[in-house]
Amino acid sequence: MKSEVRKSIEGYSQIAYEMEICRKYGIDYTAQKGRWKAAVERLHPKRLQLRVAKIITETGTTSTLRLVPVSGYLPPFQAGQYINLFVDIDGVRTARPYSISSPPNQTAYYDITVRRVADGFVSSYLLDQVKVGDVLETTGPAGQFYYNPLIHGKDLVFLAGGSGITPFMSMIREVTDRLLLDRKIHLIYGSRSPQEAIFHKELMSLAADYSNFSYDLVISDPGSGYEGLTGLIDADLIISRIGSVEGKTFFICGPQEMYAFTIPELKELGVPDRRIRRELFGLPKQVYNDPAWPKEVSPQSVFTVKLSSGREIPARADEPLLVSMERAGLVIENCCRSGECSLCRVKLVKGQVFHARTAKLRKSDHQAGYIHSCAAYPISDVEIML
Ligand SMILES: Cc1cc2nc3c(=O)[nH]c(=O)nc-3n(C[C@H](O)[C@H](O)[C@H](O)COP(=O)(O)OP(=O)(O)OC[C@H]3O[C@@H](n4cnc5c(N)ncnc54)[C@H](O)[C@@H]3O)c2cc1C
Ligand code: FES
Repeated sequence: MKSEVRKSIEGYSQIAYEMEICRKYGIDYTAQKGRWKAAVERLHPKRLQLRVAKIITETGTTSTLRLVPVSGYLPPFQAGQYINLFVDIDGVRTARPYSISSPPNQTAYYDITVRRVADGFVSSYLLDQVKVGDVLETTGPAGQFYYNPLIHGKDLVFLAGGSGITPFMSMIREVTDRLLLDRKIHLIYGSRSPQEAIFHKELMSLAADYSNFSYDLVISDPGSGYEGLTGLIDADLIISRIGSVEGKTFFICGPQEMYAFTIPELKELGVPDRRIRRELFGLPKQVYNDPAWPKEVSPQSVFTVKLSSGREIPARADEPLLVSMERAGLVIENCCRSGECSLCRVKLVKGQVFHARTAKLRKSDHQAGYIHSCAAYPISDVEIML
């Protein structure tokens, strides 16, 4: 009966005829089943097992870990992307993102360059405990902070602060290694002291060797007798080093305070928003200093988080929910830990959270009650659905 109905549809017999021909002489797509999925997984693996092949001391507080694949190949990446590195420390499974500082044309390894953060949970572990031969688990490369030749033009200004030099190092090494002479880069790198400036020698040598790369180091806290550029990277300093902002695209990476200071300076110089690209190196250290933080909530408050299983865990107001859940032994998928990628999304059933200003929550997620647990701080008892 059904086939009788089909036959009455206009054009049916023509389509049936073509299908018959395809079946006989066309490609049998059933034989391809899983092929594209396998190719996508090879290029964008969820997890990588990487062995520490070398540890390079960069400064008194910073080392580079050279990571090679335990087996197979490393997936390609764009200079400027990061990997999220998982660790198990004292029974807590957590992760931190680190930009790849080696260039993408170097396919044998990924370098990550880690700076010690005072009382840092993971940076101290990586610098003090990890040794050559250890195997680390990471995500594949991720992130949107990279150069796009169709949008960003050929004249780039990189403004780096502290460990924020790492994604730029990958971009600069790619341009110089591959002799991409049509791309011009001016790097202005802010560091507290000359001793803390990472990659300084290599940057000086690249600037001397390549006419399309220039480099300025700016020291904010110079000791006596320092003769180079000093102070903060403000409008006057930028303009004195690059001449004009016309036609240039600015990339910024560094601590949160750097964005708050530098972006208004660029605006003052007339740089439009679309010409400013920024990477978030995590969340503000003291989110409760945000003017929108509810004054009645003390940062020391400890709230209760009720999970869908009925289990209750404690959560500090000054720590993202993701960290509280990790402290309680829960494993939540995460990648950027900056509120951008939405992998750590959970549903807020009851209670209130404070989202870090920089978190990028989709409007639809907000309306449906989802939160980014890596960037959401509890400001009351909450109930969440995992
Ligand atoms: C995209 C991106 C790229 C980055 N690239 C680099 C880079 O190239 N180089 C670099 O040096 N840094 C980089 N960072 C910063 C890096 O991810 C880490 O934030 C940094 O190394 C500091 O981590 P930490 O754990 O030492 O310090 P914090 O993250 O400040 O750790 C201290 C925090 O750990 C938590 N904690 C403490 N004890 C526990 C516990 N028992 N259980 C669970 N949590 C606990 C607490 O919240 C505490 O406040 C990048 C960040 C981002 C977002
Ligand atoms: S881990 Fe990316 S938004 Fe939370």
